[in-house]
Amino acid sequence: MDYPKELAYPIQQLSKAYPLEGFVAGQGPLHPRLIIVGEAPGRTEVENFIPFSGQAGKELIKSLARAGLTREDVYITSAVRSRPYGTKERVNKRSGAYEIVHPNRTPTKKEVLLHAPLLDYEIAQIDPPIIVTVGNIGLQRLLGNQMVIKHCHGQVIQSTIQQCNRERTGYQWSTLSYLIVPMYHPAAIFYNRTLAADIEKDWTGLKTILQQ
Ligand code: URA
Repeated sequence: MDYPKELAYPIQQLSKAYPLEGFVAGQGPLHPRLIIVGEAPGRTEVENFIPFSGQAGKELIKSLARAGLTREDVYITSAVRSRPYGTKERVNKRSGAYEIVHPNRTPTKKEVLLHAPLLDYEIAQIDPPIIVTVGNIGLQRLLGNQMVIKHCHGQVIQSTIQQCNRERTGYQWSTLSYLIVPMYHPAAIFYNRTLAADIEKDWTGLKTILQQ
């Protein structure tokens, strides 16, 4: 998606004050079967500018197939368009030397709010028939902080969504209502293999939802 320069440029400038790097635009058809809202790009994505092109992306493609979809059928974006990174000191296992590394991390609420007008713009342009959030960050960005993925994964929720307010100090509820299906983040199984069966079931269920 090409964001209007007057929308994206100030956000990119303000992002420089945060531990954020790169800028990956949302990608996919303008009339998709659904829109996927993830968390934020990782290292792979800021290198090749393709959302969900790393390890989590491979899992996402497998899940999409369960719903009878390919990457080309969906528009893929996330709550934040730049890579949030941390700073850690560690001992290099091979050389034994101290080194500073910058691993991916979860975006903060402030970073999500800073990038919120970009996601609002994408949703307004696409007017998606279904919004699939993957992980807690995308879910809470749209439906509020009280939502927790383990309690609502795979459900179909008809609701208004949070949009950045005019002052950009917080959120207001949209006038339009959307169909939202919260899913676990595809990377969740890297940390908890026991989620695999639920994830499989949720995406197979999405196939039925799409047929209705
Ligand atoms: N996680 C996300 O939410 N988005 C990506 O593009 C990659 C990983």
